[in-house]
Amino acid sequence: MSARGTMNEKRLPPLDRSLISSDRPVSSGLVRALRTLPRRAALKTEWPMIEVKDLSIGWGDLVLQENLSFEVKRGEVFCILGGSGAGKSTLLRFLIGLERPLAGEIDVAGHGFPDLDAGLPPFGVMFQAGALFGSLTVGENVALPLEEWTDLPHAAVTAIARAKLKLVGLDGAAEKLPAELSGGMKKRAAIARALALEPELVFLDEPSAGLDPIAAAGLDELIVTLSKSLGLTMVVVTHELESIFRIATRCLMLDKVERTIIAQGDPRELRAHSKDKRVSDFFNRKSKDS
Ligand SMILES: Nc1ncnc2c1ncn2[C@@H]1O[C@H](COP(=O)(O)OP(=O)(O)OP(=O)(O)O)[C@@H](O)[C@H]1O
Ligand SMILES: [Mg+2]
Repeated sequence: MSARGTMNEKRLPPLDRSLISSDRPVSSGLVRALRTLPRRAALKTEWPMIEVKDLSIGWGDLVLQENLSFEVKRGEVFCILGGSGAGKSTLLRFLIGLERPLAGEIDVAGHGFPDLDAGLPPFGVMFQAGALFGSLTVGENVALPLEEWTDLPHAAVTAIARAKLKLVGLDGAAEKLPAELSGGMKKRAAIARALALEPELVFLDEPSAGLDPIAAAGLDELIVTLSKSLGLTMVVVTHELESIFRIATRCLMLDKVERTIIAQGDPRELRAHSKDKRVSDFFNRKSKDS
């Protein structure tokens, strides 16, 4: 679809330095094992992380959204907004290569349309209904992508899963079952799982939905911290107004009736300057907590 390249150019992913410098002694065996992580196509840093041109999404004659054009720059926290049923989760499914566009182009990390059969994807995903497996411990849940994509020995997989849990503030939760976690902790564990394979791009679908305001604010803080400290690019679906202003560098808004993007840019500027009543009403509405 894009002439920019294929997923064939591959190199080893960078080592997770935080593992090596953590207080846990790391054997040279683990360092060697980390090098056996599967190959991921080299990121082409000169291009935006995601580039979408004239995209139409849907199935057969059913067009859900059309003429979608936008870019996600490296290191951004980019939010996808819109009413229920507008197609936010569906757009994510197209961006990660689970569905084929009806028309238009998607380029992820300079490698064209994501080919999920071409090796380790250049992104991690937390789906909206991305529940953890209830019969596995939290650590085992986070370890799943590592089991699936790597030949790392069990000890290395366990150590990486624990490091990812530590990163999201769930130190010591590895042995717990998901049922023993609060809603916010479950979301954090799901984010840890999305980070397991050290992606530079992460998709999060409604990370703070259903959480109380304090847990939601904590999760937003985590998203901002991960983005800033690891340089992660994040695409986040949300319609929580407070979250948008806390985390988003830029956003786009899908409209169900217009079937396209009705606004995009910095949410603060959209709130202050948008002439579109739907957009202005959305950003200026009183939140339920204020
Ligand atoms: N595979 C599919 N085939 C046909 N229609 C689908 C399919 N998947 C989703 N839809 C429809 O697409 C529409 C958009 O769904 P989607 O889940 O993307 O909305 P959303 O914006 O994420 O909503 P919410 O905020 O409630 O999560 C819905 O009407 C849904 O029923
Ligand atoms: Mg959704």
